Amino acid sequence: MADLDGILENKDKDYGIGVPVQRDGGFFLKGLDNCDWGLKDRMSRIFNVKTGRTVMLAFDHGYIMGPTSGLERLDLNIVPLIEYADSLMCTRGSLRSVVPSTSNKAICLRYSAGTSILTELNDECIIDPNDAIRLNASAMAVMVSIGGKYEAKTIENLVRTADAGYKYGIPTMGVTAVGKELARDSRYFATASRICAENGANIVKTYYCEGFEKVVNSCPVPIVIAGGKKLEEFDALDLCYKAINDGASGVDMGRNVFQSEAPIAMIQAVRAVVHEGYTPKMGFELFEELRNK
Ligand code: 5RP
Repeated sequence: MADLDGILENKDKDYGIGVPVQRDGGFFLKGLDNCDWGLKDRMSRIFNVKTGRTVMLAFDHGYIMGPTSGLERLDLNIVPLIEYADSLMCTRGSLRSVVPSTSNKAICLRYSAGTSILTELNDECIIDPNDAIRLNASAMAVMVSIGGKYEAKTIENLVRTADAGYKYGIPTMGVTAVGKELARDSRYFATASRICAENGANIVKTYYCEGFEKVVNSCPVPIVIAGGKKLEEFDALDLCYKAINDGASGVDMGRNVFQSEAPIAMIQAVRAVVHEGYTPKMGFELFEELRNK
């Protein structure tokens, strides 16, 4: 019974008395220390653990716009870009019909759906969390329209999504929209972003604007920026650079990639700015080099 004696013997054991319990603090993304393991694991699939950033490729536009320019054929326009993205933001329709199941990319599933651009936007509902689970979604993205006619409904959608998200360990992404009457400035983007976070979003998607650092600093969870309308490639890279410099945790970019004259070159240039600290000039030089290959 010598072994049992050894087990019961307190002598020479270090119980670490007085040393605070080591918690899983210092998670690489802000505001998530107290979330569950599964949720953090999914966040670690969306965001690169080394840089703390993501290049999310958005191609969910068709859910409100139909076959947008550059997205007429998802199989031809999007599939060749997938390998360069950290994460894909798309609807369940495009995921099942077009995205190869072997892509092994983090999926930020468009989780709310409703009215199209042919009528008033943002009158939305949400889909079934079981479908997000079946699709192995790494996040569920819900539109939140602040100051718009459907504000309460969109916030309820976010709240119900976050309820399901915390139940199943799937992060919720709040996608901010501001009402037609409101300025698209830091005051309203900060308000919309903060409302998303306070109501349970673990990631917020918003737009870059002057004073963007205030938007980032007043939001307790990571922010990614949408690219918005197509810009010249240099200007789009400049937008990424400024957003990252002001504290964004990445981009969720669509039109400025898939509407580029050279989408594969463009997404690689965006990656270089987001993950490798390229300046807009360096990023644009890379774009030119890759497009001429
Ligand atoms: C629309 C979206 C889009 O995914 C988002 O706007 C990103 O695309 P883009 O860079 O083209 O603006 O969420 O609600």
